[in-house]
Amino acid sequence: MKLGVLTGGGDCPGLNPVIRAVVRSAINDETEVVGIKNGWKGLLEKDYMPLDLRSISGILPKGGTILGTSRTNPYKKENGLEIVKKNFKELKLNALVAIGGEDTLGVATKLFKDGLYTVGVPKTIDNDLGATDFTFGFDTAINIVMECIDRLHTTAESHNRIMVVEVMGRHAGWIAAYSGIAGGADYILVPEIPIDVDELCDSIQKRHKRGKNFSIVVVSEGAAFNDASLFTQEQKLDEFGHVRLGGIGDTLGKLIEEKTGYETRVTVLGHIQRGGSPTAFDRVLATRFGVKAYELVKNKEFGKMVSLKGTEIVAVPLEEATKALKTLDLRLYDLAKIFFG
Ligand code: F6P
Repeated sequence: MKLGVLTGGGDCPGLNPVIRAVVRSAINDETEVVGIKNGWKGLLEKDYMPLDLRSISGILPKGGTILGTSRTNPYKKENGLEIVKKNFKELKLNALVAIGGEDTLGVATKLFKDGLYTVGVPKTIDNDLGATDFTFGFDTAINIVMECIDRLHTTAESHNRIMVVEVMGRHAGWIAAYSGIAGGADYILVPEIPIDVDELCDSIQKRHKRGKNFSIVVVSEGAAFNDASLFTQEQKLDEFGHVRLGGIGDTLGKLIEEKTGYETRVTVLGHIQRGGSPTAFDRVLATRFGVKAYELVKNKEFGKMVSLKGTEIVAVPLEEATKALKTLDLRLYDLAKIFFG
């Protein structure tokens, strides 16, 4: 049997541990594995590399992906499906493990319906994929943000300042809520709830009246005011129809300073959140996902995605994972609110 593996979409810590786990499981079974380079782009261009014990040696703690990634959508390319099918055949692949978020797994779902044997592994720092409790990459991202919030606390306190921290997460507030709770944020803004600047400033002012001289506000890049318009870095859409979010932090910082009179600074964490070595939790989750993905291939359970349900790794239909975005559980936001102000 010959198996292909690819990583698509935005990278995140934990991709290499999945690749390693798939390859180690396959080698134990004498199955050949090839890595398709740069996501679906590699399958369109027949760009690949053999994956053996040597190529996966030492990659467990490494962030990013040894295979490279892209946001290429084969269904948006002329004859994309035909080219993918032809290359699948020419590479003599029996199956393909696609490691990605909603876009990459959306393509894996369609390819399965179009007759190719695919299995999905859910990754994203945003934790916004349905049908799994957690994606790998998320734990690393929130730990990075938590550490940054800890660092911002000391400088905020020294200067009597408000610190606004803009975090990633696209249209879901998971990163903001988890890192904000873990970092002891004094206010958290998420895409699921429109921003009420007056309420935010009241809360900060009350806090300062009771003797606190600084505050930390965590804002998700996808948060919006009542008119619901998103802050974007450019209008261009990628091949999956996404805009590049970002910029809410600056506007919010100015508003807070204007309304409260407190000196305010803004930190945009950006891609720092996706870089570096995965946490132990993500390494273990990614490894468990990779081993399970190979098991699904071996058992010919195609069109499925590996998923974490409670403490168990299970298989769910790929379609279920990409049906709807998993937005923040608002019970968590209610909990965070106890600590506002
Ligand atoms: O989906 C992961 C993510 O990091 C989002 O949180 C963010 O909005 C986006 O990717 C950034 O994408 P890019 O790497 O293309 O700038």
